[in-house]
Amino acid sequence: MKPVKVGICGLGTVGGGTFNVLQRNAQEIARRAGRVIEVVQIATRHPNPACNVGDDTQVTDDVFAVVNNPEIDVVVELIGGYGLALEIVMQAIANGKHVVTANKALIAVHGNEIFAAAREKGVMVMFEAAVAGGIPIIKALREGLAANRVQWLAGIINGTGNFILTEMRDKGRTFADVLAEAQALGYAEADPTFDVEGIDAAHKLTILASLAFGIPLQFDKAYTEGITKLTTADVNYAEAFGYRIKHLGIARRTEQGVELRVHPTLIPADRLLANVHGVMNAVMVNGDAVGSTLYYGAGAGAEPTASAVVADIIDVARALATTPDCRVPHLAFGADVLSDLPI
Ligand code: HSE
Repeated sequence: MKPVKVGICGLGTVGGGTFNVLQRNAQEIARRAGRVIEVVQIATRHPNPACNVGDDTQVTDDVFAVVNNPEIDVVVELIGGYGLALEIVMQAIANGKHVVTANKALIAVHGNEIFAAAREKGVMVMFEAAVAGGIPIIKALREGLAANRVQWLAGIINGTGNFILTEMRDKGRTFADVLAEAQALGYAEADPTFDVEGIDAAHKLTILASLAFGIPLQFDKAYTEGITKLTTADVNYAEAFGYRIKHLGIARRTEQGVELRVHPTLIPADRLLANVHGVMNAVMVNGDAVGSTLYYGAGAGAEPTASAVVADIIDVARALATTPDCRVPHLAFGADVLSDLPI
């Protein structure tokens, strides 16, 4: 089998992690993918000191050199944001390339048009790393739970916010101090207000709800409240009454359609979600056949997120020999089943 040629746009925290996991586990990955995966080009403005990029990989500061490189089969978009990232993804699709992205903002806000373009071109757009870092929650919803009518899902889906709340409670640290550490550790978004105002969680909830309920991506329908108004005193009072404050994303069926909300929540301290600490994420999904299920793992950071990016690259490699109509639909329900809210 021919190798799969990959181009990576962005060599920051996640890009660096992706490059390193692809190099370190190359043999294992090739056996699983059925093909060797070669990173032929990387676009980055700054070298990443954590990565040892050898002579086999070209480095450029022009993302469009990657996107328009005829040798490349799969473009991995790890730039983030809505502007340049959207151009990269749409141009890659127009060029007939498969796309892997970790960009939740892009998928939540522009996913409908991206998937329409991808369907038209018969290419795959994969985004496992966009939600809950290393937890394979996209695959769980799209494939593992495909038999179910999902009733509700709820989860801690922003690692930075959970890290802040955990450190405030355990060590009495201030909000600002912990946020600065989350930024230094590479957990936070480029604009950390996305983390602390609940916007990042709302992006992720939008994606999860679309997969779970078969509805279009509708980020503007999510009620969004962050954690910036919480103080250490709030966190301590909750504990004194046997509760814990967690920032949750919740999606559930109601008589009026699917309700999406992101906000701080009081949870009894002995419940599973109350005991998800630090940068860890957890998502509970309730389906009519399976009952309640729980998915837990690192929600941010270089290699946990890279784990999901590389899994998507492997999925694309496995699917290259198939035709588009025998691949799993981008949003689980396929284009024709999606209807507007309420459902
Ligand atoms: N800033 C995000 C978080 C990164 O803290 O969860 C992973 O999506």
